[in-house]
Amino acid sequence: MAVLPRSPRSRGPQPDRARFWSRVRAAGVNGIDWKVREGFVQKAFPLQLPAVLGIELAGVVEAVGPEASRFRVGDRVMGPLGRLGAYADLVTVDEANLVRTPQGLDDVHAAGIPVAAVAAWQSLHHAGPIAAGQRILIHGAAGGLGGYAVQYAKRAGAEVFATASTAHVDYVRSLGADHVIDYRTQRFESVARDIDLVLDYVGGEVLDRSWQVLTKDGAIVGTASADILARTAPGRRGLWFMTKPDAALLERLTAEIAQGTLISKLGEVVGFDDIPAAIERNRTDPRIGKVVADLSR
Ligand SMILES: NC(=O)c1ccc[n+]([C@@H]2O[C@H](COP(=O)([O-])OP(=O)(O)OC[C@H]3O[C@@H](n4cnc5c(N)ncnc54)[C@H](OP(=O)(O)O)[C@@H]3O)[C@@H](O)[C@H]2O)c1
Repeated sequence: MAVLPRSPRSRGPQPDRARFWSRVRAAGVNGIDWKVREGFVQKAFPLQLPAVLGIELAGVVEAVGPEASRFRVGDRVMGPLGRLGAYADLVTVDEANLVRTPQGLDDVHAAGIPVAAVAAWQSLHHAGPIAAGQRILIHGAAGGLGGYAVQYAKRAGAEVFATASTAHVDYVRSLGADHVIDYRTQRFESVARDIDLVLDYVGGEVLDRSWQVLTKDGAIVGTASADILARTAPGRRGLWFMTKPDAALLERLTAEIAQGTLISKLGEVVGFDDIPAAIERNRTDPRIGKVVADLSR
């Protein structure tokens, strides 16, 4: 039984002028799914019910609008949808958002890359350039964004502190983190001090406890608690971050993943009927890396 509705537009390709139709083969599951479901982000994602969730995909071009020029029918493509609706048979997509899926990268793996890989890169650089030797603390390092951020920060020459639950400590260490803090047995404040940048991919009380580990000029960039500005004490630097599609950046990062120089961890693959349960698990019991829905199942 399918619990989520398939796209109401799945009757057949009728491309808009500058867009193309893509048959969705796989779609990434993200925290935004349950946040939209709970009604938390109505300003950023206004809904007209019934709504189809899902914000990133991999698929194949089915039809091309007359003003779309970057792709041809039959091309394998991947990227953020730029709106909701990826858990569908067919979607129309703005061609500016998408990139070709590299040979050797399967659709399921590809579908989990666009949002996390790009958001991690953009959020790492959001507070300013990263200098070698900077001390960076990454909360939620075992998650979709965190896994990439650990690798990007290490490459930039930072000393990386990362938090993860007991079962995920070895995984985060394998990504190159210098200090992995098991947040279930240790308070991060007792290990991480004089931190120049906190990447807060968890939010809530984790964010509130993070001010004390910062240097005087240090910054917290948050992706999880949208009220970070209200939670920032006067004189401190707290920045809310919202990711934007960047096809050039996605293309570069995806090429690295295809070449094996950037690790992209696929934590779980579910079928279409299991998407609601996977969305709920993201809220209550997040998996390591990314969760992807294989829509061919
Ligand atoms: N603003 C934006 O543009 C934007 C873009 C993308 C995502 N987001 C948001 O950013 C957040 C992270 O996204 P994501 O895709 O990386 O999420 P995710 O894959 O669900 O990962 C979240 C991670 O947080 C960890 N975690 C939970 N409680 C923790 C704690 N107390 N301390 C440290 N780690 C903890 C979990 O690790 P363990 O399993 O080890 O517990 C989990 O792996 C989500 O809230 C998402 O909605 C925002």
